[in-house]
Amino acid sequence: MTHPSSTGSRRIVVLGTGGTIAGSSPEAGANLGYTAGTVSVEDLLGGITTPKGFALHAEQVAQLDSKDMDTATWQALHERCEHWLAHEDVAGLVITHGTDTAEETAFFLHSVLSSIKPVVLACAMRPSTALMPDGPQNLRDALAIVATPAAAGVTVVCAGEIHGAVEVRKDHPYRLDAFGSGDAGPIGYVEEGGVRLLRHWPPTEASNQTGEAVTLPAVNRWPRVEIVLSHAGASGALIDTLVRERQSGTSEPVAGIVLGATGNASLHHAIEQAAHRARAAGIEIRVAARCNEGRLLPTPEAAFPIMAALSPVKARIALMLALCRDTHHAR
Ligand code: SIN
Repeated sequence: MTHPSSTGSRRIVVLGTGGTIAGSSPEAGANLGYTAGTVSVEDLLGGITTPKGFALHAEQVAQLDSKDMDTATWQALHERCEHWLAHEDVAGLVITHGTDTAEETAFFLHSVLSSIKPVVLACAMRPSTALMPDGPQNLRDALAIVATPAAAGVTVVCAGEIHGAVEVRKDHPYRLDAFGSGDAGPIGYVEEGGVRLLRHWPPTEASNQTGEAVTLPAVNRWPRVEIVLSHAGASGALIDTLVRERQSGTSEPVAGIVLGATGNASLHHAIEQAAHRARAAGIEIRVAARCNEGRLLPTPEAAFPIMAALSPVKARIALMLALCRDTHHAR
């Protein structure tokens, strides 16, 4: 639905998916103990001023707590993003989203979208019914980013900081500035509606490298990829269970495992041995860093391919999409 205060000739489309930004609590003013994903995206836009020269259009794609994010919602979101980004008069998109998996949705969209127009995830750490909710400011900042000439790529904005989809991660369970970009730092800041850029917008060409819309498999056909963390006292039992399950002919066999490595791709010896058994059974293995900063550096003795700059949750998405492409090409 088009926002009543809208007057401009270019549109910003705001897609609602739920989260704390759309959360509410029966206890007036409470910061915790609320239900995420209860307020419509249209209502969230109620008191927000539309950037000059733009019209807003709101659409509810989902209404969930992002801890429960699933492939069906990603599929729907991908479809709606491609739909709107293809309109010439649409300058970009804002997606209202929960903080818990915002980094995963941002990385997923970064990996599949065919347009370089700005797509900004706006979230909040306090529900809309809090005494001082942070959502309205974050939403305002997200609109300001989309309205900024030359803004591009998928970003997350929270507490005035703009983070790129590849680096962003939720670092804090409570603070309003809950997100960081590790040692890469934020892309920039939003200050009173103005963007102060510290480095380039991501990326300079279409994220999926082709500029063409990606066809994702049916929701129940996405390859299953699991994450196993290497840690003190680890065993290979979880990996061996996944292998046995696959060999038993289960309907959704694991296709890939991302190992969350300590240090520079180092793995507990029991995890490493089990991963060799899994690879021999046909499961793709990748290694990602457990550390929050830096990137894994390749070494000649690395037993498995590394995903140098990705956290385990993003490496999981990257492997899942790579397996989707392989399956698609194999058809
Ligand atoms: C969610 O991720 O949907 C709930 C938590 C939050 O948005 O902060």
